[in-house]
Amino acid sequence: MREQVDTDSRTATRVPEDPAEFALKVGIRPDPWQLRLLRSTSERALLNCSRQSGKSTSAAILALHKALIKPGALILILAPAERQAKELFSKVADMYRRLGHPIPADSYRKMGVEFANRSRIEALPGTEKTIRGFSGADLLIVDEAARVDDALYYAVRPMLAVSGGKMLMLSTPWGQRGVFYREWTEGAGWERYEVPASQCSRISEEFLGEERLALPPWIFAQEYGCQFKDVNDQVFASEAIDRSLRAVEGKEPMDFSSASRKAG
Ligand SMILES: Nc1ncnc2c1ncn2[C@@H]1O[C@H](COP(=O)(O)OP(=O)(O)OP(=O)(O)O)[C@@H](O)[C@H]1O
Ligand SMILES: [Mg+2]
Repeated sequence: MREQVDTDSRTATRVPEDPAEFALKVGIRPDPWQLRLLRSTSERALLNCSRQSGKSTSAAILALHKALIKPGALILILAPAERQAKELFSKVADMYRRLGHPIPADSYRKMGVEFANRSRIEALPGTEKTIRGFSGADLLIVDEAARVDDALYYAVRPMLAVSGGKMLMLSTPWGQRGVFYREWTEGAGWERYEVPASQCSRISEEFLGEERLALPPWIFAQEYGCQFKDVNDQVFASEAIDRSLRAVEGKEPMDFSSASRKAG
């Protein structure tokens, strides 16, 4: 049976309507782009942001705020792997703790919590199968979205159509492939947030200088510069890598002839 967290009703009334104000309550002073996101009324947002810029933190604030402010809300946190979904769930739990409430230990095992107002937050490894059991999410967060299967995205879209919920896809780029890349470059109806490391005051110029020297240029551009790098910058084109992976999994015949090597 699902355990309920006792939210005392006095605390529930203290949750501010404004998610940006709520962020301050959990100890986060939002950056300008986070402020825009937290206060946005758009139902679709794509966050193409540098490593460590604060995208998971922003999503965690929105998740907890929605759960506490709207009784009976369902919030789903998806990521390619369980570990990544768990990391975001931990941020939610930390914030809830900062508000003065513990999250039951059992919740960490399940990666799901139900509050006294019947709101639920569920963190799941993002496969199409796991999502099919849910309906009517109020907020759907896809972390590391560049690495989730396209099938997951196609499975969640109809679910949001019925609930009128909000969807956030957050990621650093990962080649010119997949739903995150396609939606970022040509998708309609999205609010877009692009935050390179140079715009994040917590990432120093000195650190970035070291990373620039240590990493291949295309990786640096991807991890810190919000750039979808491909063919000319990468040893193998993304599509060729994907094809080879599918071949290893036995879904396609092996064919390395079209894997384009970087010139020079
Ligand atoms: N506005 C903020 N003020 C202070 N600290 C912040 C703020 N936003 C995020 N942080 C802190 O910055 C660190 C990185 O945040 P977070 O994990 O959300 O980044 P991320 O973009 O998801 O990183 P990654 O790409 O590695 O997953 C965390 O320690 C988080 O608490
Ligand atoms: Mg993150």
